[in-house]
Amino acid sequence: MKLTVNRKSHFNAAHRLYRPDWSDDKNDKVFGKCANKNFHGHNYELIVSLTGEVDKETGYVYDLGKLSKLIKNEVEDYLDHKNLNLDIEDFKNLNPSAENIAILIYNRLIKYFDDDYKLKITLYETPRNFVEYSG
Ligand code: NI
Repeated sequence: MKLTVNRKSHFNAAHRLYRPDWSDDKNDKVFGKCANKNFHGHNYELIVSLTGEVDKETGYVYDLGKLSKLIKNEVEDYLDHKNLNLDIEDFKNLNPSAENIAILIYNRLIKYFDDDYKLKITLYETPRNFVEYSG
């Protein structure tokens, strides 16, 4: 029997979306407020979803305490209260859009799960804007 377990998490981070090879004008047109030179913050809400078989002995798909520790170590400790553009190596030459943050989180977590599990990342940048990535 397969089903999905979910763990919610949260981090705050600052970012700016822009391309140095574009003019200020074009950056403003494409990225709007997110191009603001002095950065701005978001309260990111994260849902990590893991689909797999229910273990007959434990009744678990995955130990959610263990999943919560993984998320703390790999995501919260890495991204919380950071300036994503300046502090995070992955975003030195890549826009820290919600899309790219979701892919980064997926890549940091997927290595802990074998092929029997399917991982999905849901990331809310605002209460109304969110992205999903599952590899
Ligand atoms: Ni933004």
